[in-house]
Amino acid sequence: MRQLIRGHIVAAPSPGALDITENGYLALENGVIRCVSTERPDGFADAPVQDFGDRLILQSFADMHLHAPQYAMLGLGMDVPLLEWLQRYTYPVEARFADAGYAREVFERLAQALIANGTTRVCIFSSLHTDATLLLMEALERAGVTGYAGKVNMDRNGSEELIETTEESVAETRLFIEENKDRKLIKPILTPRFTPSCTNELMEELGKIAAEYPDIPVQSHLSENTDEMKWVKELHPDCAQYWETYDKYGLWKDHTVMAHCVHSDARECAAIRRAGVVVAHCAGSNINLCSGVSPVREMLQQGIWVTLGSDIAGGAQLPMYKVITMSIRASKIKRMETDWSEDFLTVPEGYYLGTTAGHRYFGGGDGFAVGQPLHAIVVDDGDFPEPVRPLTVRERFERSLYML
Ligand code: GUN
Ligand code: FE
Repeated sequence: MRQLIRGHIVAAPSPGALDITENGYLALENGVIRCVSTERPDGFADAPVQDFGDRLILQSFADMHLHAPQYAMLGLGMDVPLLEWLQRYTYPVEARFADAGYAREVFERLAQALIANGTTRVCIFSSLHTDATLLLMEALERAGVTGYAGKVNMDRNGSEELIETTEESVAETRLFIEENKDRKLIKPILTPRFTPSCTNELMEELGKIAAEYPDIPVQSHLSENTDEMKWVKELHPDCAQYWETYDKYGLWKDHTVMAHCVHSDARECAAIRRAGVVVAHCAGSNINLCSGVSPVREMLQQGIWVTLGSDIAGGAQLPMYKVITMSIRASKIKRMETDWSEDFLTVPEGYYLGTTAGHRYFGGGDGFAVGQPLHAIVVDDGDFPEPVRPLTVRERFERSLYML
């Protein structure tokens, strides 16, 4: 089926670039993009037009790091740093996901909220419970969200109610992968919580699974907080840096997603780039938990693949347009801290990181790329304060990210 969508189309095909097509057409064939143009394209003369008039058509967002069960504690417990926060607030909440009824309820609400806020692709952590993880996958698929979801692995340093044995962790992960590897919309991803949560034995077994299933990627946390990093050093005295604890077990590889990387130095950043590891930058969470401000601008200059995550519920804002503007603010803080020697992220760059950079992870193209399924949102800025002068589409786009 051929169809046309009309409006002011704004896409970010590369970092810093904005493709703006005013009063443009997005031409679709069976949901796949055929072209973006200012004129009605050839072959689409009889196609129905969905005309959004003066509204903006933007790329939808990709949230590359969030914790589904933590949606139940959104906006709460922001008064302690990471390691205390996990023990005091997070683990008790995640333990509740042994209850399928509770999990179903929370995940349904989260999935609806993602779509309502324009997030169509995710790389998401569940809890350690396999049953709850299946419910999460189903809720996301029903809502129209695609991507990867992972059953969390944690066989040490959890809590009495939130821990699994090494054997359980391995067996449940194998089961989870076997049962879900052929899913089309939400696919499984290996999810060791972070090095302090996983014994060496478990890491070794996860490395074997990663090698057996080369198409199944890995996600985890890296260099988020200085106390966490000290702890990792104590647990793995043979590793010079945190990333090597993943590398040692074959989990540090192309398309591995590492959340945070706040304190990754030049050597760790070089390892990230060399391996093709993807950074999920979570600026709001990093400030809420007093973790620090990640050197995102430097990472981009080094050619590292940087994406954005809401990191619910270290982060308290699910809408990715808020995550984008928070990333811009954080990068300005970094610039203020470094004697104005570094540039900060621009709005088009932030938009790129929250859209194209993430969509690429799932095989998406640059901007509204021909041959890709449509991932778009329509923005109505009609309720915004009346501007004192007419705004350009570019200005309306910028204002929408900041003011929605
Ligand atoms: N490191 C290990 N687990 C977590 C988590 O749930 N949230 C954050 N922000 N960091 C973590
Ligand atoms: Fe996280």
